[in-house]
Amino acid sequence: MGSHAVDVQSLVVEYSGTRVLDGVTCSIDAQNVTCIVGTSGCGKTTLLKTILQLVPAASGSIELLGEDVIEREPEERAELLLRVGVLFQNGALLNSMTVAENIALPLRLHTDLPDEVIARVVREKLEIVNLPGAQNLLPPELSGGMKKRAALARAIVLDPKVIFLDEPSAGLDPVSSARLDMLMLSLKKHLRMTLVVVTHKLSSIFTVADKIVFLDEGHVVFDGTLAAARASDIEVVAHFFDPFEERATEFS
Ligand SMILES: Nc1ncnc2c1ncn2[C@@H]1O[C@H](COP(=O)(O)OP(=O)(O)OP(=O)(O)O)[C@@H](O)[C@H]1O
Ligand SMILES: [Mg+2]
Repeated sequence: MGSHAVDVQSLVVEYSGTRVLDGVTCSIDAQNVTCIVGTSGCGKTTLLKTILQLVPAASGSIELLGEDVIEREPEERAELLLRVGVLFQNGALLNSMTVAENIALPLRLHTDLPDEVIARVVREKLEIVNLPGAQNLLPPELSGGMKKRAALARAIVLDPKVIFLDEPSAGLDPVSSARLDMLMLSLKKHLRMTLVVVTHKLSSIFTVADKIVFLDEGHVVFDGTLAAARASDIEVVAHFFDPFEERATEFS
């Protein structure tokens, strides 16, 4: 698998007989940011969920950190998935628990660390996501951007090698969104994490992406560097990266 954090081969996924991913092959380079891009409903979330085995594959193979996730026994798979962090599309924090309790949850479930160590880890993670001192707040007391950052702190609490983020900046104002972009870059640079980001925000893609995987109608139509994606003449890809070009000619 070399330097690939994730390797997906000929992946087929169906929901009650309807094919959503139709032979997806793509790879995610370690310690890079890969953006998964494509129109709404093209299967981006499904791809993430299948990599995490929350949705079963009809056929194909998935290697995650060098291990075959589909073939693994449930116990080994659970262990493997502990090395992965996830920020879901509507990745809600539990509203009845404080920020600190939310972030501590994976530690309580998967480690037997004493309370004072957990408190220290929570404090460190809150500093990383730039929410120092937010321990005792309840999620309803946070802004949208703060919620995303708190959820990100929870996603990295077990120091994952790979983190999957599904539309992390959806609903955020441009400043909060840019801050989240910087945060993702710092996770890559300083913590050497691999990030897989589903997003359709061009500003964010231009800031964070090393690689682009472009999905269309259940297929990967492009898999390569951001620069190559921006220069691509594949119609859907070109249109995505330069959505105004066509309109400009339409109106001239
Ligand atoms: N649990 C499910 N059961 C049945 N169909 C589903 C299920 N989840 C998703 N689908 C269908 O699969 C297709 C892909 O959905 P998916 O959520 O993966 O798309 P997406 O690319 O993440 O879209 P968006 O950009 O809107 O988040 C859609 O047609 C959707 O209706
Ligand atoms: Mg989605």
